Amino acid sequence: MQAPDFGIVVTERTIKPARNLAGALRLPGDKSISHRYGLLSGLAGGTSTFSNFSTGADPSSSLSCVAALGAKVEWLGDHRVSVTGVGGEFTPSASPLDCGNSGSTMRMMAGLLAAQAGEFTLVGDESLTRRPMERVRKPLAQMGARIELTDGHAPLTVRGGALTGIDFATPIPSAQVKTALLFAGLQAEGTTTVRESVRTRDHSELALRAFGAQLTRTIDSVSIAGKQTLKAIDAAVPGDMSSAAFFLCAAALFPESNLVLDGLGLNPTRATLLDVLTALGANIAVLNLEEQYGELVGTVQLNPPQSLGGTTVSGALAAQLIDELPALAAIAPYTRNGIRIRDAKELRVKESDRIDLVVKNLRAMGAEVEEFEDGLDVPGGQQLHGAQIDSGGDHRIAMAFSVAALRAEGETSILGAESAAISFPEFFDMLETVAER
Ligand code: S3P
Repeated sequence: MQAPDFGIVVTERTIKPARNLAGALRLPGDKSISHRYGLLSGLAGGTSTFSNFSTGADPSSSLSCVAALGAKVEWLGDHRVSVTGVGGEFTPSASPLDCGNSGSTMRMMAGLLAAQAGEFTLVGDESLTRRPMERVRKPLAQMGARIELTDGHAPLTVRGGALTGIDFATPIPSAQVKTALLFAGLQAEGTTTVRESVRTRDHSELALRAFGAQLTRTIDSVSIAGKQTLKAIDAAVPGDMSSAAFFLCAAALFPESNLVLDGLGLNPTRATLLDVLTALGANIAVLNLEEQYGELVGTVQLNPPQSLGGTTVSGALAAQLIDELPALAAIAPYTRNGIRIRDAKELRVKESDRIDLVVKNLRAMGAEVEEFEDGLDVPGGQQLHGAQIDSGGDHRIAMAFSVAALRAEGETSILGAESAAISFPEFFDMLETVAER
């Protein structure tokens, strides 16, 4: 496998204020969908080919894992990748499987490997090693999986074996946990049902169907019959809405902006940000809507209002917007009425404690902000100043504060800017192409 080079060089980026954002962009492939296509094609029989595969380091970790287990992964250039799967049986690798910074890789792989013969150890970087893994171990153990954690965390060892389907209600909304169960259920005896009180992103359900598996869905559950086999597909990965969020939020800050994003993933379980920006006063048009393997793709055009209003994000909305909350918090001081975020405790166990870092960095830029265990209150009508931002090595913090910097007085420097490459290596270059100064 000839993977892109993600050699880590610690970098600092300076962001200068902008007048507006203008232009058209096509964003790299969705990180969540790329993980699922990468992992399932690794298990399937035959050769799958994907265009616009995510350029982020995280989906590349998923590809490296399936490659280490016997799949053949080839980068074909121009963000195209082909994966020849193992036809249902992975071969255990001699060395641990490195999931890098990617919680998705580790949790989904745990499900994928639980029914496979052999012993598999999953490791990650320092941030991933701090993240909770009991949430996947426990339900998988109910299916009969033998998984060992280290004090609730990685390294995680799977001793694969026969599994039996279960009926499981997820205690916290998590698409990664749902996916781990569906991937295990695909290979189990009997049927596995996952019930959710909040509908999390459904890329796994759509991807499993794309690869030929049968699933049944109700309004709040999904069931998969066991012992199904997958067959290869050719697919184009839609542009990543969570990456687009930084551009959409940035454009919304300036009345003169005119931003067009082509080929963007518009799966309804991922597009809640468009509703929130509309509630804040932005005018959003969706054009050229198409569907591939159940995933909606279209063009989004954003025209901002004279000034943004205010809003509260809580309950189910908080779960659905979890990856976009740092970007929303970063534009909150510049709104008229502020943004209130609650029921988002999960933010504390992402790649960093995102509530803590958002609060610290907003304060570093001179903002008034109140911190809660499960969110924050950012009053509106505030003017921020440039500052030194500590990204904590978290890609979404680095990008969110680059957005806040565009409307601040003076320059902002983002420490640990290289972390953007986890999901979106092109972020800073693309920002420069649309930021007008
Ligand atoms: C993801 C699910 C979410 C999200 C993460 C990607 C996925 O995590 O925050 O960035 O691709 O399934 P949780 O499952 O922990 O909520």
